[in-house]
Amino acid sequence: MRLTIPFRLGSGRRVLAGVLATLAIQTSMVGCDRAPTETLAITKSEVGRVPASAQRPGDPQQGYDALINRAIVTCGLPYDAYRRRTGPQSPNLDLQFPGRTGRNAELPYMLTAHVAESGIELVTSNCLGCHAATFDGELIMGLGNEFLDLTVDPLIAVEGAGAFVAEGPEATEWRRWADRIRAISDYMMTDTIGVNSANNLTLALMAHRDPETLAWSDEPLIEPPPEKPLPVSVPPWWNVGKKRAMFYNAEGRGDQVRYMMLASTVCTDSVDEAAAIDAWFVHVRAYLASLEPPSYPYPIDPDLANEGYRVFQANCKKCHGTYGEDPFYPNKLVALDKVKTDPLLARKGFKEADRFLHWFQRSFYGELSQAAPALGYIAPPLDGVWATAPYLHNGSIPTIAALLQSESRPTYWEFDREGDARPAYDRNQLGWAYRVLPHGKAGATSRNERYRIYDTTSSGYGNQGHTFGDDLRTDERLALIEYLKTL
Ligand code: HEC
Ligand code: HEC
Repeated sequence: MRLTIPFRLGSGRRVLAGVLATLAIQTSMVGCDRAPTETLAITKSEVGRVPASAQRPGDPQQGYDALINRAIVTCGLPYDAYRRRTGPQSPNLDLQFPGRTGRNAELPYMLTAHVAESGIELVTSNCLGCHAATFDGELIMGLGNEFLDLTVDPLIAVEGAGAFVAEGPEATEWRRWADRIRAISDYMMTDTIGVNSANNLTLALMAHRDPETLAWSDEPLIEPPPEKPLPVSVPPWWNVGKKRAMFYNAEGRGDQVRYMMLASTVCTDSVDEAAAIDAWFVHVRAYLASLEPPSYPYPIDPDLANEGYRVFQANCKKCHGTYGEDPFYPNKLVALDKVKTDPLLARKGFKEADRFLHWFQRSFYGELSQAAPALGYIAPPLDGVWATAPYLHNGSIPTIAALLQSESRPTYWEFDREGDARPAYDRNQLGWAYRVLPHGKAGATSRNERYRIYDTTSSGYGNQGHTFGDDLRTDERLALIEYLKTL
């Protein structure tokens, strides 16, 4: 069943105050036992410099320990069923973060053990399935996973695992998890391997919860987002300490902790539970803010990089800042009509998300944080940018070389790899090896082929804009690429 939007937006009055424009809205609640009309403030952001906001202090070391050992998702597959399915040895244990203790040391890095209130031990997912990845075989904390396959219905794996679950309390725990995934699975499936649907998933979770109590409802309480997610590339965590706003459209303002918890609230069903997570998540944020980018692992030509530095200072610095000895990051939110990259993510977040902004501001999460979207994208810090291909908020451009020369960007492309293997890293273009294709998804002959194709003619997948490298000479571009390896 679909509900209509329970807010009447007609009487909105825009008040411009400094950098932020506050939209005071008369809301009319439908099907709710609270007072029928109340005033709520939602905030939208202006482009330009992002103002700083204070963050609660935390201890990075404790944060690291919590990130790799504590569960934020509190429902999942019973551990015994997991073991019946995998056998005594988990796959991929050669890739592990140091410091995982107890049961976690025997689980792949993207899974965490958790004992539920029922006493049943569970295996649950954590942040690192999306926010850690390998580079040339080495596991890197905070590197976005750009190879995740979210094209498959997650219910297939959940139901498959169900065959290993015993009757009784194990089945009850599994059922709770399966029911949640069923409610949100339609909003998680992308049509391209590698792009991420965390944004849409978060909105779907909001739709199923009462903002004040956080109680779960099997039926949505506000209109859910459209089912088809817009493609999003996972940003690296090592920029968190520099950025004054989280997310591509800079909507994560104020306290960062509560907003970054939100994507993993599949089973956070009460304010008490959310508050308990919040208490240790201040340390996780402090850890993320302390992360340093990895260093380029191959040789760099210092003279060429020096020339590239000059090209960068002349053409890129005003938006992306300076690096090295005297670093400065301007935190610049650039208007859509200036950066001209695919506008859909920012537009939808600004124009079609008021019900979610209301939800957020009424909830525990909005007590300290603001969801204040803008009609633009933040120019990200470029630390470790050589590692974060493909580029732009939607991952539409496979290499830095292609980003810096718009006519060379492929319209249809796929990673050049066999099966699920990682493609080779291209040290000249900075990015994963890719193949240019003569056709988009419409020309694909199998499901497999279809989901591997990045089709920039699809809505939200556009690779236009950011033409700031187009006027450079070939030698300047080469030097600039060499310089970017040093960041
Ligand atoms: C399903 C994949 C997924 C999971 C799981 C996930 N994230 Fe993210 N995360 C994303 C994506 C995609 C974005 C980019 C969203 C955007 O900017 O619109 C993001 C953005 C962020 C950012 C903002 C980075 C920036 O530069 O603006 C932070 C911080 C973050 N996530 C922290 C976390 C934490 C902490 C967890 C675990 C509690 C988590 N994420 C779980 C996919 C995920
Ligand atoms: C007018 C401001 C502006 C200028 C000038 C500018 N950029 Fe950007 N840049 C942006 C914005 C905004 C984005 C994010 C756009 C998006 O994701 O859609 C971006 C994104 C990028 C990215 C992609 C980062 C990622 O991880 O996806 C790279 C690389 C980059 N810029 C490099 C450069 C270089 C090199 C120059 C100089 C030739 C430059 N930019 C000039 C604003 C600017």
